[in-house]
Amino acid sequence: MNQCTELWVDRKDYRNTRIVSAPLPALREGEVLVAIDRFGLTSNNVSYALSGDMIGYWGYYPAEGDWGKVPVWGCANVVESSCPGIPVGDRLWGFFPMASHAVLRPGKIRDDQFLDVSEHRSALPALYNGYRRTRAEPEFLQAMEVERCLLFPLFATSFVIFDYLLDNDFFGARQVLIGSVSSKTGFGLAEMLHNDPGVTQRVIGLTSSANVAFVERLGCCDEVVVYGDEARVDATLPAVYVDMSGDTKLQAVLHNLLGDNMVASEMVGATHWEARGAAGDLPGAKPKFFFAPSQIAKREADWGPGVVMMRAMMASAEVAKKVQGDLSVEWIRDAEGLAALWRDLLDNKVSPSRGLMVSLL
Ligand SMILES: NC(=O)c1ccc[n+]([C@@H]2O[C@H](COP(=O)([O-])OP(=O)(O)OC[C@H]3O[C@@H](n4cnc5c(N)ncnc54)[C@H](OP(=O)(O)O)[C@@H]3O)[C@@H](O)[C@H]2O)c1
Repeated sequence: MNQCTELWVDRKDYRNTRIVSAPLPALREGEVLVAIDRFGLTSNNVSYALSGDMIGYWGYYPAEGDWGKVPVWGCANVVESSCPGIPVGDRLWGFFPMASHAVLRPGKIRDDQFLDVSEHRSALPALYNGYRRTRAEPEFLQAMEVERCLLFPLFATSFVIFDYLLDNDFFGARQVLIGSVSSKTGFGLAEMLHNDPGVTQRVIGLTSSANVAFVERLGCCDEVVVYGDEARVDATLPAVYVDMSGDTKLQAVLHNLLGDNMVASEMVGATHWEARGAAGDLPGAKPKFFFAPSQIAKREADWGPGVVMMRAMMASAEVAKKVQGDLSVEWIRDAEGLAALWRDLLDNKVSPSRGLMVSLL
């Protein structure tokens, strides 16, 4: 294949996309060309577009004009190298564009990872500049590539939230309310809470009626509450709200219901991306954005370098194994199909039991 295929997204109208094909780029000294043979697609990628300007997600793989390349988590082979430390045939896991190929500039090379040190990436969040060289990793991880693309980045966040709640004694809460619990980040957290015998807090999952059966099948919530039925939540028990939905009305309903018993309110995601807005003053704890890097930095200091991410990876693998039978992986192998699925994601037409894996090679 001597063409690179990419899907670009209009940064002002996410439903508008463009398929771009071009000859493979020529490498400059120090660069490698990678062929991306798989990447996962979930609402998290929609959120990368939503916060593309604020956090800088558009900056990793810049496009022209108002177009943007939404980043995804994927695996790739090095197919051409002008970088002495990285041979052709190296296998990578990391942050790629929705594309068949990409050019990286490896630096700070170790046996098990490198950083992309391209000038245009230097001011962007460092986390996403790291690429794992997976052949140096344990075999069980090498055998979990699909899970790594589709689930690990989300379950790792679930783990960091889980750890943050434990670390803070749940702020005194007796129940954890999870908004948009059918999301991978949401049920990942519910699973970790449910599977820890030391956790006594009740786990209450909030979801839409269409997704109740899926969440109930997972069996990780003490109670599943359908949107609109929030009055079923026990307002006499102190609660922490972990919100993956970003739905301001839902947030207001829960805060007004719980009042001072809302002891912490963590905003993590925005699956209901068109239901965001200004919440104004709400009763109970002031909602705040959950910032995973703060908790990761705290644990780096508490536990030593690399330990928190290793624990997150092990926890992700455990949950991925447990939910294996509840998710069916689908492969999309053309750019038109990817564009259609991207729109389906925006329009809430992807059931939580579908695991979308893409290859544009
Ligand atoms: N802050 C962080 O560090 C961080 C890290 C990871 C993930 N996140 C965020 O967590 C959220 C979940 O990500 P994910 O990849 O785990 O999600 P996902 O598995 O793709 O979530 C699917 C669920 O989200 C809801 N949903 C999806 N699209 C929707 C739409 N267009 N309108 C309304 N609801 C929709 C539905 O759940 P319900 O019916 O249950 O609502 C659906 O079952 C994302 O917003 C992501 O950015 C944040």
